[in-house]
Amino acid sequence: MSGILKPASCDNILGSSSESTGLAPVVRPFAREGSLAERLRATPLLMAPMAGVSDAAYRMMARCGGAALAYSEMVSVAGLHYGGAKTWELVVPHDPEPDIAVQLFGSGPEQFREAVTLVCDRLGAQLALIDINMACPVPKVTRKGEGSALLDDPQRAAAIVRACVAESCVPVTVKIRRARRTGDVEVAPAFARAMEDAGAAAVAVHGRTASQLYRGEADWGVIDRVAQAVSVPVIGTGDVRTAEDAARMLRETGATAVMVARGTYGNPWIFDDAQRILAGEERHLHDTSQRLAAFACHVRLLEATGAHLARARSLAGWYLRGMPNAAQWRDRAMQCRGVEDYLSLVEAVVEASKSHVQVEVET
Ligand SMILES: Cc1cc2nc3c(=O)[nH]c(=O)nc-3n(C[C@H](O)[C@H](O)[C@H](O)COP(=O)(O)O)c2cc1C
Repeated sequence: MSGILKPASCDNILGSSSESTGLAPVVRPFAREGSLAERLRATPLLMAPMAGVSDAAYRMMARCGGAALAYSEMVSVAGLHYGGAKTWELVVPHDPEPDIAVQLFGSGPEQFREAVTLVCDRLGAQLALIDINMACPVPKVTRKGEGSALLDDPQRAAAIVRACVAESCVPVTVKIRRARRTGDVEVAPAFARAMEDAGAAAVAVHGRTASQLYRGEADWGVIDRVAQAVSVPVIGTGDVRTAEDAARMLRETGATAVMVARGTYGNPWIFDDAQRILAGEERHLHDTSQRLAAFACHVRLLEATGAHLARARSLAGWYLRGMPNAAQWRDRAMQCRGVEDYLSLVEAVVEASKSHVQVEVET
């Protein structure tokens, strides 16, 4: 015997942590029956695509927190063409994930056609939908005519949608922004209409211009304007920071569904909480011990999925936010190297928070 323990499986980690994290012990599949519109209407809370964030561990946490479906990080169609293992890692769901929404980016319709064929073949029934990124503002991407640069070229964008729809085994959707530059005429409604005409089954709308990047306020009004322009469902995104925001976007705009992005930082329960608000039920409280248990669970999932543990550093900042001495704990997280270091950190915070409660009670 080597004495080295095999890391637990993701199923095992999720199942054994469920009581302490308050998250579901298993990931439920996205509904398979009915049109995409019907399925989104029935389960409207989605985990948004986030490059560098929404890896398998992150998606599992979100789905155990109530997300109906989670998107991959954006995946380059050129990367899929060259077949790199790192690119495929972004696409293929990890074991307890029954299905996934895969987001592709690129600029060539023929490359998209090939990528869709490859993804459909490889994922089969695990593929819930394919989304085309027409929203990414990063210059490295837009310089090549990809991401939000497609907002300036609706004909190319429509050709991409047609090429994807022709090969796809699942609905094809697009994700767009209001416009390319602040001060430009808002293109989103007419652009969305053109994508619908090309075969898009839904349009996700981020209410910022690309030049705003992720700053400034998202304009939820554009969600209504797009919803009025198209007959396919609109998925709203932007400034959904809390469960209340998610419920409000669904109630107050024309969005059929909502994608939560930064609002999930340290808060995988946001989906379930929003569902409860919508159903008029009482919300659960997520106390310090639950948040620490979720952080530990998340770190163990990173290990079990073979992800780079450097990602746990940002997670530490998010899960520990607002706790007493958070800055000091975050500094300690920067020194962590392995899973055991992170789990000891969690134990230390648990101990400290007990004495903190005692001090509070005593004074
Ligand atoms: C770190 C980060 C990475 C992102 N990566 C992607 C991506 O790969 N594809 C995409 O369509 N949007 C991406 N987005 C945008 C989000 O999906 C979302 O639309 C946007 O952040 C607005 O929502 P928010 O204001 O609630 O965060 C990313 C956002 C962040 C913060």
